[in-house]
Amino acid sequence: AHTPLIFKSTRSTHGRSKTERDAILADPGFGKYFSDHMVSIDWTVEKGWHDAQVKPYGPLLLDPASSVLHYAQEIFEGLKAYRHADGSIWTFRPQANAERMQRSAHRLALPGLPTDAFIESLKQLVSMDADWVPSAPDTCMYLRPFTIANESFLGVRSAHKATYFVIASPVGPYFSKGVAPVSIWLSEDFTRAAVGGTGAAKCGGNYAASLLPQQEAYKNGCSQVLFLDPQEGKYLEELGGMNVFLVKKDGTLITPELSGSILEGVTRLSILQLARDRGLKVEERKISIDEWRNGVASGDIVEAFAAGTAAVVAPISALKGRDFVAGDENAPAGKLTMSLRQELTDIQYGRAPDRHGWLKRL
Ligand code: COI
Repeated sequence: AHTPLIFKSTRSTHGRSKTERDAILADPGFGKYFSDHMVSIDWTVEKGWHDAQVKPYGPLLLDPASSVLHYAQEIFEGLKAYRHADGSIWTFRPQANAERMQRSAHRLALPGLPTDAFIESLKQLVSMDADWVPSAPDTCMYLRPFTIANESFLGVRSAHKATYFVIASPVGPYFSKGVAPVSIWLSEDFTRAAVGGTGAAKCGGNYAASLLPQQEAYKNGCSQVLFLDPQEGKYLEELGGMNVFLVKKDGTLITPELSGSILEGVTRLSILQLARDRGLKVEERKISIDEWRNGVASGDIVEAFAAGTAAVVAPISALKGRDFVAGDENAPAGKLTMSLRQELTDIQYGRAPDRHGWLKRL
């Protein structure tokens, strides 16, 4: 057992005006603007977690020798705060994010923040910046907890000093075209993660490794990149920043099983649950790239979508590779895709009963 952290709050004296804030909330985009405050909690080997603060948002003072800048000892999370019709603010399955962050921390040899402190940190920030939680349809506040190693030391070992932060960004849809279907680029030269590597951890390095193939995707008119397994280069893993699902003609929902090298998405888990609740057949298993390509050609695979906290559920119209296109870039969003998206967002925004107890009031 540990003593609960007491947060010290310092209100910003240079926050944005209501006029500026309203202009941002009217058209937030994704991850471009940040609220007036942030959370920080320090950690050292000697003292453990201490000095929890909510303070004005602003640049960090980092020693240039901080280990995160050299050896990428860093982890992060992503979850959202939703404003319901009565004005109350809720988040979705924060315990799952807290626990995943602890697993990521373990893999990156960083300290794990206890679940109650993680949830309290979100509460503290959201209560200070409640005015920043938008209320327009399909908008919410994206919360980004992250932990960095900030010991000033160039030896390669786990740092003795780290800081956990939370920043908050009012957001609209992740993709600029909203929920319009996106095309996906198959990365044939690069994998995302190795067996025994950090693929299942939410660490910055995984995303850094996805950027070059992602550039290739953009050049080919695609919004995300699909990675195959690192051993055989045959089975679907995940997209650059989201999990992937396919829908078969008979209504079966399939998604790659947790291979140890893909991210255990909270949206992924929730979609699987909602599908099972509907009595749909759900399969978590190995899916080969040929199964997708041939299935689209034969009509056996009728829908595909991406799932993640940021993008929620994003319909995929086509899969493109160097010498093939599976699907039709101009195809409309799939019916099951959109109805799962609707069901999930109805729960998140308080429009439908929260039968699994997924929401937590902030
Ligand atoms: C998410 O929050 O969905 C992520 O994985 C991070 C990124 C795609 C914004």
